[in-house]
Amino acid sequence: MTSAATTIGPETFSLAGRVALVTGGASGIGRATCLALAASGASVVVADLNAAGARKVAGEIEAGGGRAHAQPVDLAEEASIAAMIEASVRVFGGLDILHNNAADSDPALMAADGAIVELTAEVWDRNMRINLRAPMLGCKYAIPHMICRGGGSIINTSSASGLTGDVVRAAYAASKAGLGSLTQNVAVQYGKQGIRCNAIAPGVISTPALEANVPKAAVEVYVENTLTPRLGRPEDIAAVVVFLASDAAAFVTGQILSVDGGILSHHTAMAGIRKLSG
Ligand SMILES: NC(=O)c1ccc[n+]([C@@H]2O[C@H](COP(=O)([O-])OP(=O)(O)OC[C@H]3O[C@@H](n4cnc5c(N)ncnc54)[C@H](O)[C@@H]3O)[C@@H](O)[C@H]2O)c1
Repeated sequence: MTSAATTIGPETFSLAGRVALVTGGASGIGRATCLALAASGASVVVADLNAAGARKVAGEIEAGGGRAHAQPVDLAEEASIAAMIEASVRVFGGLDILHNNAADSDPALMAADGAIVELTAEVWDRNMRINLRAPMLGCKYAIPHMICRGGGSIINTSSASGLTGDVVRAAYAASKAGLGSLTQNVAVQYGKQGIRCNAIAPGVISTPALEANVPKAAVEVYVENTLTPRLGRPEDIAAVVVFLASDAAAFVTGQILSVDGGILSHHTAMAGIRKLSG
């Protein structure tokens, strides 16, 4: 349960006694978030299609003295999502924090998400199914349990791609834009019952998915267009998830928070102008 903080101290940021569930917890941003939530005191359900990877992350948390449960899930299937939420309640007695983080980052799917005139309905549907339908179903099954505990925090992983147009990946981008809308609708519908719902829109984050899907030359273009000296790391996103999950963010809801090294904050001509001025 989240409550308004009256005095601010380390306990405001603590997640001691909370139960968190992270989808896509075996890899990249999800793995970093699982470790960060556990380090902040939460018991963590590590949910992933990659069951061995989820067990590995849960093992890392337990080895560090934390509490974790690995939950195999296929987010394409509603019954599997319902079972994932029930596992949290069965193992840890409830659910306070849901991080809808997974996306279908299959390189073949990403490669097929190109020009719109060549886009197939199948590629569109696969993106929507994992990236947008699954978070909706996660919310549907989690919210009643959160309300029983007086409230909770839902954090969706959107993307900078969901806030702009691009030369490729329209299906992915549209799924992430839809996730922003889902975020606002959940925040509106359940805010008075203590549920906060926010989305994070990461910029370019160095993860296995990025390495598998983005050519090196394109990564260099992203570095040029990011305002910080480096690209993002999974831990940069995990830190903001912990904040949004905690009482420190008690008055933050319905937001799509860019955590992107400023990639969307500058004039579109910036990189070209910088080159001209040497
Ligand atoms: N890496 C980036 O630069 C970046 C940028 C913006 C947004 N994001 C978003 O961040 C999130 C995490 O991305 P990442 O880079 O850490 O990806 P990742 O590929 O490293 O991890 C994704 C995880 O999701 C799991 N997954 C995929 N399909 C699943 C399914 N059907 N059921 C259950 N689990 C499934 C995978 O097994 C994997 O462990 C995604 O939503 C992605 O769209 C990433």
